Amino acid sequence: TWSMAGFRDLEIERIRKQVGDGKVICGLSGGVDSSVAAKLIHEAIGDQLTCIFVDPGILRAGEADEVVKTFRGKFNIPLVHRDASDLFLKELAGVTDPEVKRKTIGRLFVEVFEEEAAKLGGAQFLAQGTLYPDVIESVSFTGGPSVTIKSHHNVGGLPERMNMQLVEPLRELFKDEVRALGRELGIPENIVGRHPFPGPGLAIRIPGDITKEKLDLLRKVDAIYLEEIRNAGLYDAIWQAFAVLLPVRTVGVMGDGRTYDQACALRAVTSTDGMTAEVYPFDFAFLNRVAGRIVNEVRGINRVTYDITSKPPGTIEWE
Ligand code: XMP
Repeated sequence: TWSMAGFRDLEIERIRKQVGDGKVICGLSGGVDSSVAAKLIHEAIGDQLTCIFVDPGILRAGEADEVVKTFRGKFNIPLVHRDASDLFLKELAGVTDPEVKRKTIGRLFVEVFEEEAAKLGGAQFLAQGTLYPDVIESVSFTGGPSVTIKSHHNVGGLPERMNMQLVEPLRELFKDEVRALGRELGIPENIVGRHPFPGPGLAIRIPGDITKEKLDLLRKVDAIYLEEIRNAGLYDAIWQAFAVLLPVRTVGVMGDGRTYDQACALRAVTSTDGMTAEVYPFDFAFLNRVAGRIVNEVRGINRVTYDITSKPPGTIEWE
């Protein structure tokens, strides 16, 4: 849009002024926000920017490859790709408390990121794709006393530790505006239109402890669910859709046999900023088809439920 083109040009000027001939590093997560921030900053200062993509091993199926292909391959943006999945899994072993998961993951992102930044010889500036709602929600929960509901690891901590100045070109924007800006910058639809994905990733969609086996199981369920959503043309009507692997086994029948396998939950919500959310009203035939595919195609899952809780009182994620 006209106003987004104007915003882009203004931000490019602001970034150039702030950064001068300094070096900037940017953590890419695979999500919309850091992708748009990185592309915008690259337009402003070119290869003074280097991106660092830490793959924590808790992403969706195929997403890590897509990030690398797009940024290194298509955009020619200097990109360090560090596969840290073994480290993350080792440190997350036995961790069940959601906030401890977040803190562990946040700490590891910082540690690995710092390691990679040091290998690059450091930089004066750190770029982050922080949005306006990130700034608000990590402070307090409206309607009650000032209590932090969930700590969002992508706000704060890192720049102070690394003694870097922040470059946050998206701080004043809401998600839909970031998407419009991304389109203006020529970022492909599969990234710009992507649902928000939390920093702690699939780790907060597996209540209880995290293992490689559980992650692989959840990735299969999640991929089927999202494929069906895309095929039905519903992806863009939904704010976030994802599967949750439930820490419970239930009895089922398959052919002549009894099964005793895990249950999963599906969630889909509409929202404009993630602060409140409504359940997406799938028609029954759709849910029935998805459940049938999951139980038939994913060995180890024998029951599918649909989460019908809005936010508030529920949160979007289960942890
Ligand atoms: P909740 O579950 O609090 O989520 O209703 C609101 C939005 O925030 C995302 N979310 C997170 N994002 N780190 C993130 O980067 C986190 O720890 C985190 N927890 C929730 C969630 O996916 C939704 O978009």
